[in-house]
Amino acid sequence: MVQIKALILSGGKGTRLRPITFTSAKQLVPVANKPILFYGLEAVREAGIVDVGIVVGDTADEVRKAVGSGEQFGLKVDYIPQEAPLGLAHAVKIAKDYMRDEPFVMYLGDNLLKNGIRSFVSEFADGKCDAQILLARVPNPSEFGVAEIEEGRVVGLEEKPKKPKSDYALVGVYMFTNSIFEAVEQIKPSWRNELEITDAIQYLIDKGFVVNSHIVEGWWKDTGKLEDILDANHMILAELTARLDSEPGKGSEIHGNVQTGKKVNIEGSVLRGPCIIGDGASIIDSYIGPFTSIGPNTQVIRSEVENSIILEECTIKDIGSRIGNSLIGRNVTVAKTVRPPKSYEFMVGDNSNIIIL
Ligand code: G1P
Repeated sequence: MVQIKALILSGGKGTRLRPITFTSAKQLVPVANKPILFYGLEAVREAGIVDVGIVVGDTADEVRKAVGSGEQFGLKVDYIPQEAPLGLAHAVKIAKDYMRDEPFVMYLGDNLLKNGIRSFVSEFADGKCDAQILLARVPNPSEFGVAEIEEGRVVGLEEKPKKPKSDYALVGVYMFTNSIFEAVEQIKPSWRNELEITDAIQYLIDKGFVVNSHIVEGWWKDTGKLEDILDANHMILAELTARLDSEPGKGSEIHGNVQTGKKVNIEGSVLRGPCIIGDGASIIDSYIGPFTSIGPNTQVIRSEVENSIILEECTIKDIGSRIGNSLIGRNVTVAKTVRPPKSYEFMVGDNSNIIIL
């Protein structure tokens, strides 16, 4: 069997996830207390791949710090700097030397697939096609690359079409042979001034290369927006197994599948799973409801939270109503005013979003 490498994309600006992405790479936002990118690295390793090139941009330092040499995943990671986010096909262009004309899997670092990619990679390794793409049915195809299918074969692809020809979206995992390097040289930048991988694959189809497609079973998420991150958190937590590394203290109740990390302090609280509580967190006189991830060292005091992700080192205190459907960044305080005059007091970054009762 040929050795297959992986190209994981972890650049981009993450504009749809501001303000979180002003200070953090979108691929490192945690879902169920684990960075999204790590799920991709694990999926690649599980498919038998060891050599991984990660394309990095402005957030290169942060990605390098989190992933390092890749040893923690059983991978050998090299970093490929991209000077500007000029598109997915541009990322392929700059990875040419690293790939040395060998077949590879391109995995977008903000994508999550429930069933991994092992079966797709092993089929591709048989060498029967020039490229392999994955498709999934979506309710909003205009937000993706979309496939036109005739008699079970992909005959055309279009990036973010206004009038989609099907509801099959291109999943952010692609398998290529060296024919893709010819394609990325031939295409022109799109309306968003990016070299689109969708156009490069269309080039392969037009030139008669064999492009196979598979439908992804089980859920798939591109976590580019808040609601998608919350959905991904929901899906991962739905499969959580219960594990208490810290036992709840007096007056507390735990229902359903709950994971607590080390040195977690739970007092007078109800935790209704599935939910996960990071190391060193405190949950005092509070309710943590289903599909909630509480990051390390965060304190929730006399408050209720559900269907939300709260990152590390936050303080949520004396909030009179339940917090839901929220993504709260690192080191954030949300608290009730303690003395008159009573007013809403905000210090929030650009592009924040606050909904009050
Ligand atoms: C990219 C691709 C698109 C694909 C999507 C999957 O979109 O251009 O064809 O459907 O990833 O995640 P982007 O995230 O750049 O908007």
